[in-house]
Amino acid sequence: MQELKFPEGFKWGSATSAHQVEGNNHNDWSEWEKTRPPEFQSGKACDSYNRYEEDFDIAKSLNQNIHRFSIEWSRIEPKEGKFDHETMHHYVNVVKALRERGIEPMITLWHFTNPIWFAEKGGFLNPNSPEIFTRYAKYVVDNLRDRVGLWITFNEAFTVYAGFTKLSAIWPSRGRGFFNFLKMRINITKAHTLAYREIKKIYGVPPMLPESTLVSHNVMVGIVENNVYVPDTKNFFTTKMRRLYRQLRNFYFFKKNVPIYDFIGLNYYHISKKPSFGEKNEIVPKQKFMKEMNWEIYPEGIYHVLKDLSRFKKPIFITENGIADGKDELREKFIKEHLRWVWQAIHDGVDVRGYLYWSLLDNFEWAEGYRPKFGLVEINLETFERKIRPSALKYAKISRDNALTL
Ligand code: BGC
Repeated sequence: MQELKFPEGFKWGSATSAHQVEGNNHNDWSEWEKTRPPEFQSGKACDSYNRYEEDFDIAKSLNQNIHRFSIEWSRIEPKEGKFDHETMHHYVNVVKALRERGIEPMITLWHFTNPIWFAEKGGFLNPNSPEIFTRYAKYVVDNLRDRVGLWITFNEAFTVYAGFTKLSAIWPSRGRGFFNFLKMRINITKAHTLAYREIKKIYGVPPMLPESTLVSHNVMVGIVENNVYVPDTKNFFTTKMRRLYRQLRNFYFFKKNVPIYDFIGLNYYHISKKPSFGEKNEIVPKQKFMKEMNWEIYPEGIYHVLKDLSRFKKPIFITENGIADGKDELREKFIKEHLRWVWQAIHDGVDVRGYLYWSLLDNFEWAEGYRPKFGLVEINLETFERKIRPSALKYAKISRDNALTL
């Protein structure tokens, strides 16, 4: 048997997002859901807005010491410029509940959903959106500054969100098209930069120097992006094209914002063979390791993506990595194989600070509805009963030992 030890202080946890677990949200996504069949409507989700303490008891029992969740902008600012203090108080209690259980909160300020009034103004196509978003971010951080040290401005805004709303438009979309895709990405970059500086000001930290690659303070404000592993092929030209795609797909947002972030949040799920000119061209053969999302899962890919990201010289948290597997047949293997490669990356010098499995709970999987089951914990959607899956206990052992035994 081989024991792979993780660095001292390495964080173990899981992640969720507001719209996927809270229930009863009223935002641009829930408006869109009204046009879809019932199984694609979030409804009460996991009812975590009310049951968060139960969820955190479970996370604690699974030896987790970090938890990533998001704040629902539409609840905090239901009308433009009018903040709901009672809701803010709710989130203060959520953070307290985590702290009481010895779990560090990591908060995402924006995870795909917008207040309806903001969407009606064009969302991130609106030229004032950076200021509007920053006003909200500032309000939230002002209220939580003493209790939270890890902030994320945007979740997968550049890669997944901009593409799914503006290019393929398989998500709620106003103003589809390539020009809008670019415009949205420019505004989100501005919004991130502005919010980053405001948050740092709240903590009394001077803005980052332009040439800095370091972290400016022990309060860290990061960006989360979804990176796929795009392998080389046997063919020179396809390899060149893939490398270009890899640059544009995985690094553009990080590059654009250098050095205005303190850590990188990596969401890694699968491999992408684009462009593809047939299986015989591939170095990495077709992977069979996949479940409910029809993704080509390739654990070694996380190693390459981490190595690639290390060029930005920032600490990295794996903010999402998971498998939709309601029968819980492959989850343990999935987690262990990915962690084996995370360990290897750390061993080879990449500064990885923590691993957060996606997700703590079976939740509302956006356009896919409730079919894919990513949770360490199964949810009965009628009774909201929580049931810990066997693989969660295996992950709990790894977290407790701070080591993976193979
Ligand atoms: C998102 C999550 C989503 C997960 C699985 C990520 O792209 O941040 O909200 O549930 O992938 O699809």
